[in-house]
Amino acid sequence: MISRIFEIMNDVKHILVTGGAGYIGSHTVVELYENGYIPVIVDDFRNSHLSVINGLEKITGQKIIYRKLDVCDYKAFEKVFIEFSFVGAIHFAAYKAVGESVQSPLKYYKNNLLALINCLELAEKYHVENIVFSSSCTVYGEPTGVKTVTEESKIQPASSPYGNSKQIGEEIIDDLIKSGSSLKILKLRYFNPVGAHETGLIGELPIGKPTNLLPFVTQTAIGKLDELTVFGNDYNTPDGTCIRDYIHVCDLALAHVKSIEWLENQPNSLSDSINIGTGKGTSVLEIIHTFEKVSESSLNWKFGDRRDGDIEEIYANVDKSWKLLKWKPTKTVKDAIFDAWNWELKLNND
Ligand code: NAD
Ligand code: WQD
Repeated sequence: MISRIFEIMNDVKHILVTGGAGYIGSHTVVELYENGYIPVIVDDFRNSHLSVINGLEKITGQKIIYRKLDVCDYKAFEKVFIEFSFVGAIHFAAYKAVGESVQSPLKYYKNNLLALINCLELAEKYHVENIVFSSSCTVYGEPTGVKTVTEESKIQPASSPYGNSKQIGEEIIDDLIKSGSSLKILKLRYFNPVGAHETGLIGELPIGKPTNLLPFVTQTAIGKLDELTVFGNDYNTPDGTCIRDYIHVCDLALAHVKSIEWLENQPNSLSDSINIGTGKGTSVLEIIHTFEKVSESSLNWKFGDRRDGDIEEIYANVDKSWKLLKWKPTKTVKDAIFDAWNWELKLNND
Protein backbone atom coordinates (compact mmCIF):
# COMPACT_ATOMS: atom_id res chain seq x y z
CA MET A 1 0.00 0.00 0.00
CA ILE A 2 2.78 2.43 0.98
CA SER A 3 4.63 1.69 -2.25
CA ARG A 4 1.43 2.32 -4.25
CA ILE A 5 0.96 5.77 -2.64
CA PHE A 6 4.65 6.51 -3.33
CA GLU A 7 4.19 5.50 -6.99
CA ILE A 8 1.21 7.82 -7.51
CA MET A 9 2.79 10.80 -5.71
CA ASN A 10 6.09 10.53 -7.51
CA ASP A 11 4.82 9.51 -10.94
CA VAL A 12 6.89 6.33 -10.76
CA LYS A 13 6.39 4.09 -13.77
CA HIS A 14 6.92 0.53 -12.67
CA ILE A 15 7.19 -2.11 -15.39
CA LEU A 16 6.80 -5.79 -14.59
CA VAL A 17 9.56 -7.82 -16.26
CA THR A 18 8.95 -11.57 -16.00
CA GLY A 19 12.14 -13.50 -16.80
CA GLY A 20 14.03 -10.25 -16.20
CA ALA A 21 17.15 -12.03 -14.93
CA GLY A 22 17.53 -13.87 -18.23
CA TYR A 23 19.55 -12.92 -21.29
CA ILE A 24 17.17 -10.54 -23.08
CA GLY A 25 15.30 -9.54 -19.92
CA SER A 26 18.40 -8.30 -18.10
CA HIS A 27 19.45 -6.07 -21.01
CA THR A 28 15.90 -4.74 -21.20
CA VAL A 29 16.01 -3.86 -17.49
CA VAL A 30 19.00 -1.60 -18.23
CA GLU A 31 17.20 0.15 -21.11
CA LEU A 32 14.06 0.61 -18.98
CA TYR A 33 16.08 2.39 -16.31
CA GLU A 34 17.82 4.53 -18.91
CA ASN A 35 14.43 5.61 -20.23
CA GLY A 36 12.82 6.62 -16.95
CA TYR A 37 10.99 3.42 -15.98
CA ILE A 38 11.48 1.36 -12.82
CA PRO A 39 11.57 -2.32 -13.74
CA VAL A 40 10.43 -4.99 -11.28
CA ILE A 41 11.98 -8.36 -12.12
CA VAL A 42 9.98 -11.50 -11.42
CA ASP A 43 12.12 -14.58 -12.02
CA ASP A 44 12.82 -17.79 -10.14
CA PHE A 45 16.33 -18.05 -11.66
CA ARG A 46 15.68 -21.49 -13.13
CA ASN A 47 17.69 -20.46 -16.19
CA SER A 48 19.68 -17.52 -14.86
CA HIS A 49 22.03 -16.62 -12.03
CA LEU A 50 21.57 -14.33 -9.06
CA SER A 51 24.87 -12.67 -10.05
CA VAL A 52 22.93 -10.96 -12.87
CA ILE A 53 21.39 -8.71 -10.21
CA ASN A 54 24.88 -7.54 -9.13
CA GLY A 55 25.78 -6.81 -12.75
CA LEU A 56 22.58 -4.81 -13.19
CA GLU A 57 23.20 -2.82 -10.02
CA LYS A 58 26.72 -1.94 -11.20
CA ILE A 59 25.48 -0.81 -14.62
CA THR A 60 22.47 1.19 -13.45
CA GLY A 61 23.76 2.41 -10.08
CA GLN A 62 20.30 1.49 -8.74
CA LYS A 63 19.04 -1.03 -6.23
CA ILE A 64 17.36 -3.58 -8.49
CA ILE A 65 13.88 -4.66 -7.42
CA TYR A 66 13.34 -8.39 -7.91
CA ARG A 67 10.96 -11.03 -6.61
CA LYS A 68 12.10 -14.65 -6.79
CA LEU A 69 9.08 -16.75 -7.72
CA ASP A 70 7.59 -19.05 -10.32
CA VAL A 71 5.11 -17.12 -12.47
CA CYS A 72 3.17 -20.38 -12.94
CA ASP A 73 2.31 -20.07 -9.24
CA TYR A 74 -0.71 -17.77 -9.59
CA LYS A 75 -1.04 -16.88 -5.88
CA ALA A 76 2.64 -16.00 -5.49
CA PHE A 77 2.61 -14.02 -8.74
CA GLU A 78 -0.54 -12.13 -7.73
CA LYS A 79 1.26 -10.71 -4.68
CA VAL A 80 3.53 -8.74 -7.01
CA PHE A 81 0.50 -7.16 -8.72
CA ILE A 82 -0.86 -6.22 -5.30
CA GLU A 83 2.47 -4.75 -4.21
CA PHE A 84 3.11 -2.58 -7.29
CA SER A 85 0.93 -0.57 -9.63
CA PHE A 86 2.42 -1.35 -13.05
CA VAL A 87 2.04 0.81 -16.15
CA GLY A 88 3.06 -2.16 -18.27
CA ALA A 89 4.44 -5.69 -18.35
CA ILE A 90 7.05 -7.40 -20.50
CA HIS A 91 6.65 -11.14 -20.47
CA PHE A 92 9.92 -12.96 -21.17
CA ALA A 93 9.64 -15.92 -18.76
CA ALA A 94 9.68 -19.14 -20.78
CA TYR A 95 11.84 -22.12 -21.65
CA LYS A 96 13.60 -21.65 -25.00
CA ALA A 97 15.70 -24.68 -25.98
CA VAL A 98 14.29 -26.08 -29.22
CA GLY A 99 15.94 -29.53 -28.93
CA GLU A 100 14.93 -30.01 -25.29
CA SER A 101 11.34 -29.12 -26.18
CA VAL A 102 11.25 -32.06 -28.60
CA GLN A 103 12.38 -34.38 -25.77
CA SER A 104 10.11 -32.85 -23.09
CA PRO A 105 7.10 -31.26 -24.81
CA LEU A 106 4.87 -31.13 -21.71
CA LYS A 107 7.54 -29.27 -19.75
CA TYR A 108 7.51 -26.61 -22.49
CA TYR A 109 3.76 -26.36 -22.97
CA LYS A 110 3.14 -26.25 -19.22
CA ASN A 111 5.66 -23.53 -18.42
CA ASN A 112 5.38 -21.36 -21.51
CA LEU A 113 1.59 -21.38 -21.72
CA LEU A 114 0.70 -21.30 -18.02
CA ALA A 115 3.17 -18.46 -17.41
CA LEU A 116 1.55 -16.46 -20.23
CA ILE A 117 -2.01 -17.19 -19.12
CA ASN A 118 -1.24 -16.18 -15.52
CA CYS A 119 0.41 -12.99 -16.73
CA LEU A 120 -2.59 -12.09 -18.91
CA GLU A 121 -5.19 -12.97 -16.25
CA LEU A 122 -3.43 -10.89 -13.61
CA ALA A 123 -2.84 -8.03 -16.05
CA GLU A 124 -6.59 -7.93 -16.69
CA LYS A 125 -7.48 -8.20 -13.02
CA TYR A 126 -5.11 -5.39 -11.98
CA HIS A 127 -5.62 -3.22 -15.09
CA VAL A 128 -2.07 -3.45 -16.39
CA GLU A 129 -2.99 -2.58 -19.95
CA ASN A 130 0.31 -2.35 -21.83
CA ILE A 131 1.83 -5.74 -22.50
CA VAL A 132 4.79 -6.94 -24.56
CA PHE A 133 5.08 -10.66 -25.34
CA SER A 134 8.34 -12.36 -26.44
CA SER A 135 7.55 -14.18 -29.63
CA SER A 136 9.99 -15.46 -32.20
CA CYS A 137 10.80 -15.56 -35.91
CA THR A 138 10.44 -19.32 -35.45
CA VAL A 139 6.70 -18.84 -36.18
CA TYR A 140 7.58 -18.28 -39.87
CA GLY A 141 9.37 -21.61 -40.33
CA GLU A 142 11.24 -21.94 -43.65
CA PRO A 143 10.15 -19.03 -45.87
CA THR A 144 9.00 -20.08 -49.31
CA GLY A 145 10.35 -17.88 -52.12
CA VAL A 146 11.48 -14.53 -50.71
CA LYS A 147 13.68 -14.91 -47.66
CA THR A 148 12.65 -11.59 -46.10
CA VAL A 149 9.53 -12.12 -44.00
CA THR A 150 6.95 -9.48 -43.18
CA GLU A 151 4.44 -9.74 -40.34
CA GLU A 152 1.93 -10.85 -42.97
CA SER A 153 4.07 -13.78 -44.16
CA LYS A 154 2.57 -17.19 -43.72
CA ILE A 155 2.81 -18.75 -40.26
CA GLN A 156 3.99 -22.32 -40.89
CA PRO A 157 3.28 -25.39 -38.77
CA ALA A 158 5.82 -25.29 -35.93
CA SER A 159 8.74 -27.70 -36.15
CA SER A 160 9.11 -28.03 -32.36
CA PRO A 161 6.98 -27.83 -29.21
CA TYR A 162 8.96 -24.68 -28.31
CA GLY A 163 7.98 -23.04 -31.59
CA ASN A 164 4.42 -24.24 -31.16
CA SER A 165 4.26 -22.74 -27.66
CA LYS A 166 5.05 -19.36 -29.23
CA GLN A 167 2.40 -19.83 -31.95
CA ILE A 168 -0.21 -20.90 -29.38
CA GLY A 169 0.85 -17.98 -27.17
CA GLU A 170 0.16 -15.58 -30.05
CA GLU A 171 -3.23 -17.23 -30.65
CA ILE A 172 -4.17 -17.00 -26.96
CA ILE A 173 -3.43 -13.27 -27.08
CA ASP A 174 -5.47 -12.77 -30.28
CA ASP A 175 -8.43 -14.69 -28.83
CA LEU A 176 -8.29 -12.65 -25.64
CA ILE A 177 -8.40 -9.35 -27.52
CA LYS A 178 -11.21 -10.63 -29.76
CA SER A 179 -13.19 -11.47 -26.61
CA GLY A 180 -13.31 -7.77 -25.68
CA SER A 181 -10.38 -7.54 -23.26
CA SER A 182 -9.09 -4.00 -22.71
CA LEU A 183 -5.42 -5.05 -22.91
CA LYS A 184 -3.06 -3.66 -25.55
CA ILE A 185 -0.50 -6.28 -26.56
CA LEU A 186 2.50 -6.26 -28.88
CA LYS A 187 3.92 -9.63 -29.88
CA LEU A 188 7.55 -9.02 -30.75
CA ARG A 189 8.96 -11.62 -33.13
CA TYR A 190 12.68 -11.57 -32.38
CA PHE A 191 15.16 -12.77 -34.96
CA ASN A 192 18.56 -13.92 -33.60
CA PRO A 193 19.63 -11.98 -30.49
CA VAL A 194 23.41 -11.87 -29.97
CA GLY A 195 26.03 -9.89 -28.06
CA ALA A 196 26.20 -8.54 -24.55
CA HIS A 197 26.18 -5.24 -22.69
CA GLU A 198 29.22 -3.13 -23.62
CA THR A 199 30.42 -3.11 -19.98
CA GLY A 200 30.77 -6.88 -20.02
CA LEU A 201 28.79 -6.98 -16.75
CA ILE A 202 25.81 -8.87 -18.21
CA GLY A 203 25.50 -11.15 -21.22
CA GLU A 204 24.30 -14.55 -22.34
CA LEU A 205 24.90 -17.19 -19.67
CA PRO A 206 23.65 -20.48 -21.08
CA ILE A 207 23.29 -23.16 -18.43
CA GLY A 208 24.98 -26.28 -19.81
CA LYS A 209 26.28 -26.62 -23.36
CA PRO A 210 25.03 -23.81 -25.61
CA THR A 211 23.04 -24.62 -28.73
CA ASN A 212 23.04 -21.13 -30.27
CA LEU A 213 25.88 -20.21 -32.59
CA LEU A 214 27.57 -17.23 -30.94
CA PRO A 215 27.94 -18.60 -27.39
CA PHE A 216 29.25 -21.79 -29.00
CA VAL A 217 31.84 -19.73 -30.90
CA THR A 218 33.02 -17.75 -27.85
CA GLN A 219 33.09 -20.82 -25.57
CA THR A 220 35.16 -22.70 -28.16
CA ALA A 221 37.58 -19.80 -28.50
CA ILE A 222 38.05 -19.53 -24.72
CA GLY A 223 38.66 -23.29 -24.47
CA LYS A 224 35.48 -24.38 -22.64
CA LEU A 225 34.50 -26.35 -25.75
CA ASP A 226 36.86 -28.17 -28.10
CA GLU A 227 35.51 -27.44 -31.53
CA LEU A 228 32.65 -25.75 -33.36
CA THR A 229 30.83 -27.76 -35.99
CA VAL A 230 29.30 -25.72 -38.80
CA PHE A 231 26.05 -27.46 -39.61
CA GLY A 232 26.11 -27.94 -43.39
CA ASN A 233 28.02 -26.28 -46.24
CA ASP A 234 25.77 -27.24 -49.14
CA TYR A 235 22.90 -24.80 -48.67
CA ASN A 236 21.74 -22.66 -51.55
CA THR A 237 23.47 -19.53 -50.19
CA PRO A 238 26.59 -17.68 -51.46
CA ASP A 239 29.00 -19.59 -49.18
CA GLY A 240 26.86 -22.70 -48.63
CA THR A 241 26.10 -21.97 -44.93
CA CYS A 242 22.83 -20.80 -43.39
CA ILE A 243 21.91 -17.15 -43.18
CA ARG A 244 20.25 -15.42 -40.20
CA ASP A 245 19.32 -11.92 -39.08
CA TYR A 246 21.49 -11.36 -35.99
CA ILE A 247 20.42 -8.45 -33.79
CA HIS A 248 22.43 -6.94 -30.93
CA VAL A 249 20.68 -7.70 -27.65
CA CYS A 250 20.89 -4.03 -26.54
CA ASP A 251 19.10 -2.90 -29.70
CA LEU A 252 16.49 -5.59 -29.07
CA ALA A 253 16.18 -4.43 -25.46
CA LEU A 254 15.49 -0.86 -26.56
CA ALA A 255 12.76 -2.11 -28.89
CA HIS A 256 10.87 -3.25 -25.77
CA VAL A 257 11.03 0.22 -24.25
CA LYS A 258 9.81 1.74 -27.53
CA SER A 259 6.98 -0.80 -27.55
CA ILE A 260 5.86 0.16 -24.03
CA GLU A 261 6.05 3.86 -24.95
CA TRP A 262 4.00 3.24 -28.10
CA LEU A 263 1.41 1.17 -26.22
CA GLU A 264 1.00 3.87 -23.57
CA ASN A 265 -0.18 6.21 -26.35
CA GLN A 266 -2.74 3.83 -27.86
CA PRO A 267 -6.33 4.56 -26.86
CA ASN A 268 -7.89 1.17 -27.65
CA SER A 269 -7.27 -2.50 -26.98
CA LEU A 270 -5.16 -4.23 -29.60
CA SER A 271 -3.03 -7.23 -30.49
CA ASP A 272 -0.32 -6.73 -33.10
CA SER A 273 2.88 -8.50 -34.19
CA ILE A 274 6.17 -6.79 -35.02
CA ASN A 275 9.39 -8.23 -36.42
CA ILE A 276 12.45 -7.19 -34.45
CA GLY A 277 15.54 -7.68 -36.56
CA THR A 278 17.99 -5.69 -38.65
CA GLY A 279 16.81 -6.66 -42.11
CA LYS A 280 20.30 -7.92 -42.98
CA GLY A 281 21.47 -11.51 -43.29
CA THR A 282 24.80 -12.97 -42.15
CA SER A 283 26.06 -16.49 -42.87
CA VAL A 284 27.65 -18.84 -40.36
CA LEU A 285 31.03 -18.50 -42.10
CA GLU A 286 30.76 -14.71 -41.99
CA ILE A 287 30.17 -14.92 -38.23
CA ILE A 288 33.27 -17.11 -37.82
CA HIS A 289 35.47 -14.87 -39.96
CA THR A 290 34.29 -11.72 -38.20
CA PHE A 291 34.91 -13.38 -34.85
CA GLU A 292 38.45 -14.30 -35.86
CA LYS A 293 39.16 -10.70 -36.87
CA VAL A 294 37.62 -9.18 -33.75
CA SER A 295 39.33 -11.60 -31.34
CA GLU A 296 42.59 -11.71 -33.33
CA SER A 297 42.59 -15.47 -32.91
CA SER A 298 41.80 -18.49 -35.03
CA LEU A 299 38.80 -20.59 -34.14
CA ASN A 300 38.84 -24.37 -34.09
CA TRP A 301 35.97 -25.31 -36.39
CA LYS A 302 35.00 -27.89 -39.00
CA PHE A 303 32.13 -28.56 -41.38
CA GLY A 304 29.61 -31.19 -40.30
CA ASP A 305 26.23 -32.48 -41.39
CA ARG A 306 23.18 -30.29 -41.63
CA ARG A 307 21.23 -29.93 -38.37
CA ASP A 308 17.69 -31.31 -38.55
CA GLY A 309 15.05 -28.65 -38.95
CA ASP A 310 17.49 -25.81 -39.74
CA ILE A 311 16.17 -22.97 -41.88
CA GLU A 312 18.36 -22.16 -44.89
CA GLU A 313 17.93 -18.41 -44.99
CA ILE A 314 15.62 -15.95 -43.24
CA TYR A 315 15.64 -12.32 -42.29
CA ALA A 316 13.21 -9.67 -41.18
CA ASN A 317 11.38 -7.09 -43.16
CA VAL A 318 11.72 -4.27 -40.64
CA ASP A 319 9.46 -1.61 -42.17
CA LYS A 320 6.80 -2.02 -39.50
CA SER A 321 9.11 -1.74 -36.49
CA TRP A 322 10.80 1.33 -37.95
CA LYS A 323 7.50 3.00 -38.82
CA LEU A 324 5.47 2.13 -35.72
CA LEU A 325 8.08 2.18 -32.97
CA LYS A 326 10.40 4.78 -34.54
CA TRP A 327 13.16 2.38 -33.62
CA LYS A 328 16.14 1.22 -35.66
CA PRO A 329 19.03 -0.98 -34.56
CA THR A 330 22.25 1.03 -34.26
CA LYS A 331 24.75 -1.76 -33.65
CA THR A 332 26.37 -4.07 -36.20
CA VAL A 333 27.02 -7.80 -36.08
CA LYS A 334 30.69 -6.92 -35.56
CA ASP A 335 29.74 -4.84 -32.48
CA ALA A 336 27.74 -7.79 -31.15
CA ILE A 337 30.62 -10.21 -31.67
CA PHE A 338 33.02 -7.77 -29.99
CA ASP A 339 30.69 -7.43 -26.97
CA ALA A 340 30.03 -11.18 -26.77
CA TRP A 341 33.79 -11.85 -26.77
CA ASN A 342 34.42 -9.16 -24.15
CA TRP A 343 31.72 -10.81 -21.99
CA GLU A 344 33.27 -14.28 -22.41
CA LEU A 345 36.73 -12.92 -21.50
CA LYS A 346 35.33 -11.23 -18.37
CA LEU A 347 33.49 -14.40 -17.34
CA ASN A 348 36.72 -16.35 -17.73
CA ASN A 349 38.69 -13.85 -15.63
CA ASP A 350 36.09 -14.02 -12.86
P1 NAD B 1 16.52 -16.89 -20.79
O1 NAD B 1 16.33 -18.33 -20.48
O2 NAD B 1 17.89 -16.32 -20.69
O3 NAD B 1 15.55 -16.02 -19.85
C1 NAD B 1 14.29 -16.47 -19.43
C2 NAD B 1 14.17 -16.19 -17.95
O4 NAD B 1 12.88 -16.62 -17.50
C3 NAD B 1 15.19 -16.95 -17.10
O5 NAD B 1 15.85 -16.05 -16.24
C4 NAD B 1 14.36 -17.98 -16.33
O6 NAD B 1 14.90 -18.22 -15.06
C5 NAD B 1 13.02 -17.29 -16.27
N1 NAD B 1 11.87 -18.20 -16.16
C6 NAD B 1 11.49 -19.19 -17.01
N2 NAD B 1 10.36 -19.77 -16.58
C7 NAD B 1 10.00 -19.12 -15.44
C8 NAD B 1 8.92 -19.25 -14.53
N3 NAD B 1 7.97 -20.16 -14.68
N4 NAD B 1 8.87 -18.41 -13.48
C9 NAD B 1 9.83 -17.47 -13.27
N5 NAD B 1 10.88 -17.30 -14.10
C10 NAD B 1 10.96 -18.13 -15.17
O7 NAD B 1 15.90 -16.64 -22.23
P2 NAD B 1 16.04 -15.38 -23.19
O8 NAD B 1 16.97 -15.72 -24.28
O9 NAD B 1 16.30 -14.15 -22.39
O10 NAD B 1 14.59 -15.36 -23.82
C11 NAD B 1 13.57 -14.55 -23.27
C12 NAD B 1 12.30 -14.76 -24.06
O11 NAD B 1 12.52 -14.46 -25.43
C13 NAD B 1 11.75 -16.19 -24.03
O12 NAD B 1 10.34 -16.13 -24.00
C14 NAD B 1 12.23 -16.77 -25.35
O13 NAD B 1 11.40 -17.80 -25.80
C15 NAD B 1 12.13 -15.56 -26.25
N6 NAD B 1 13.02 -15.62 -27.42
C16 NAD B 1 14.36 -15.83 -27.23
C17 NAD B 1 15.20 -15.90 -28.35
C18 NAD B 1 16.67 -16.17 -28.19
O14 NAD B 1 17.30 -16.59 -29.16
N7 NAD B 1 17.27 -15.95 -27.02
C19 NAD B 1 14.67 -15.71 -29.63
C20 NAD B 1 13.30 -15.48 -29.77
C21 NAD B 1 12.49 -15.43 -28.64
C1 WQD C 1 22.24 -20.08 -36.06
C2 WQD C 1 22.99 -20.70 -37.23
C3 WQD C 1 22.93 -23.12 -37.31
C4 WQD C 1 25.27 -23.84 -33.71
C5 WQD C 1 17.28 -20.70 -32.78
C6 WQD C 1 15.90 -21.21 -32.45
C7 WQD C 1 14.86 -20.21 -32.78
C8 WQD C 1 15.15 -18.86 -32.12
C9 WQD C 1 16.55 -18.42 -32.40
C10 WQD C 1 14.00 -18.61 -30.02
C11 WQD C 1 22.24 -21.87 -37.87
C12 WQD C 1 24.35 -22.62 -37.11
C13 WQD C 1 24.61 -23.20 -34.74
C14 WQD C 1 26.42 -24.62 -34.02
C15 WQD C 1 26.18 -24.04 -36.33
N1 WQD C 1 15.05 -18.91 -30.70
N2 WQD C 1 25.06 -23.30 -36.03
N3 WQD C 1 26.82 -24.68 -35.32
O1 WQD C 1 18.78 -21.90 -35.58
O2 WQD C 1 18.38 -19.47 -36.08
O3 WQD C 1 17.34 -20.43 -34.15
O4 WQD C 1 17.48 -19.46 -32.06
O5 WQD C 1 12.92 -18.32 -30.37
O6 WQD C 1 13.63 -20.70 -32.33
O7 WQD C 1 15.68 -22.38 -33.21
O8 WQD C 1 19.83 -20.08 -34.14
O9 WQD C 1 21.99 -19.84 -33.01
O10 WQD C 1 20.93 -22.13 -33.11
O11 WQD C 1 21.85 -21.12 -35.19
O12 WQD C 1 26.59 -24.14 -37.49
O13 WQD C 1 27.03 -25.24 -33.14
O14 WQD C 1 24.23 -21.25 -36.75
O15 WQD C 1 22.91 -24.20 -38.20
O16 WQD C 1 22.47 -21.79 -39.24
P1 WQD C 1 18.59 -20.55 -35.07
P2 WQD C 1 21.18 -20.82 -33.76
